Amino acid sequence: MKTLIISSSLSKNSRSFILCKEISKRLTEKDIEIEFVDARNLDIKPCHIQITDCMKDLILKVAETDNIIIGMGVHCYSINDALKIILDTCFGKAISKFFGIACAAGGEKSYLSTQHLTQICMNEWRMIQLPRVVYATSKDFEGDRLVNKDVIERIDVFSEEFYKIGSKLIS
Ligand SMILES: Cc1cc2nc3c(=O)[nH]c(=O)nc-3n(C[C@H](O)[C@H](O)[C@H](O)COP(=O)(O)O)c2cc1C
Repeated sequence: MKTLIISSSLSKNSRSFILCKEISKRLTEKDIEIEFVDARNLDIKPCHIQITDCMKDLILKVAETDNIIIGMGVHCYSINDALKIILDTCFGKAISKFFGIACAAGGEKSYLSTQHLTQICMNEWRMIQLPRVVYATSKDFEGDRLVNKDVIERIDVFSEEFYKIGSKLIS
């Protein structure tokens, strides 16, 4: 199984990146070919400006993968800016693919913000979502370390379920 993990935050201290890395660690122990994309290393431009070589490369990665895990930070109760650009420009070949969401927010009350990503992926590309989201706030971290046991446990379950269901969907 090929899994593409896209950490979409451009923040230097991105917490959703840490969530993506934790998930990646767990999936690496399984027979999965993981491709990890950190948006901070991409040259991305809004869709009417330019599709850069980096973006063309990501378009191919999306096309070739079996499934996708998307890391997002909450911005104004919605998805972060870079993720919107990535979706607008690089997800054309994500049709029907299985996906999961790992989300970092400032506070507990923004948990429904991931629904915007769900709506986009399901309505635009008929993607199928793992019905479990990893959601963490600043309180769950000490510096760049995830310390909340509940979130850590949720990452364990999320990774296990993503692997189980993801494998079934490609066999
Ligand atoms: C422009 C902007 C808007 C934000 N809006 C929200 C919000 O609506 N709700 C919330 O809980 N946190 C909000 N935050 C806080 C971020 O979600 C938080 O910093 C989170 O860690 C971002 O993910 P990241 O660290 O992976 O970039 C906002 C942050 C920024 C920069």
